[in-house]
Amino acid sequence: MANRPYIVGNWKMNGTRALLAEARAIDRGAARAAGVRVAIAPPFTLINPMADAVQEIGVGGQDCHVQPSGAYTGDISAPMLKDAGASFTIVGHSERRAMHGESDAVVLAKAGAALAAGLDVIICVGETEAERDAGQAESVVCAQLQGSLPTGEDVAAKVTVAYEPVWAIGTGRVPSVDDVSAMHRAIRDRLVAIYGEDGAGVQILYGGSVNAGNAAELLSADEVGGALVGGASLTAESFLAIVVAAG
Ligand code: G3H
Repeated sequence: MANRPYIVGNWKMNGTRALLAEARAIDRGAARAAGVRVAIAPPFTLINPMADAVQEIGVGGQDCHVQPSGAYTGDISAPMLKDAGASFTIVGHSERRAMHGESDAVVLAKAGAALAAGLDVIICVGETEAERDAGQAESVVCAQLQGSLPTGEDVAAKVTVAYEPVWAIGTGRVPSVDDVSAMHRAIRDRLVAIYGEDGAGVQILYGGSVNAGNAAELLSADEVGGALVGGASLTAESFLAIVVAAG
């Protein structure tokens, strides 16, 4: 059976408990959109109250530490995410790669830690504008996949890939549908090379300035199985419009 479109909101460092009202409204909307799988990755502080407040949507983390516990002040481990009510976590977001110096090896270790804790993982990849301008977009993304994706028995079913061109995040700029299709086809080829036939079932999300106005077109591109949405996921109105577009 084909996967349902998967629409994930990444709230980044936004939201206090007041924003749980939006999560509840998103949850009610998701219940009316049974053909679409919906999830939100709020900041760590909201995972537990959000998990308690919603029924239809998944709740996940935005990152996790590579270790399950220890002297790592300020960090959160995958077992802690799981205990708080998360069912998945994002790893390797470009903001983590750029601002926290996370290499592919670190992203791979984090993905492994998440899987070991019983979480699914959304692994982010994407090229910078300079890399695209230099004609290196596909090679950069494929190298990130090769270095960041965990392997092993039954792992592919727990992995989602999010392709997020760095230059499209929060900028209002998006690639052409042809460019999205070309990249997603290249990612699919790499997934099949890594996972064999299981790679055909891994969902590939597009992320970067997705909004209610462009979602349907971006989601129509080849091999796009959903979207990872930042800014437009912060209100129920804009996020549910994307969910509806995916249905
Ligand atoms: O994780 C989400 C992405 O970074 C996209 O963010 O929709 O605000 O461009 P954006």
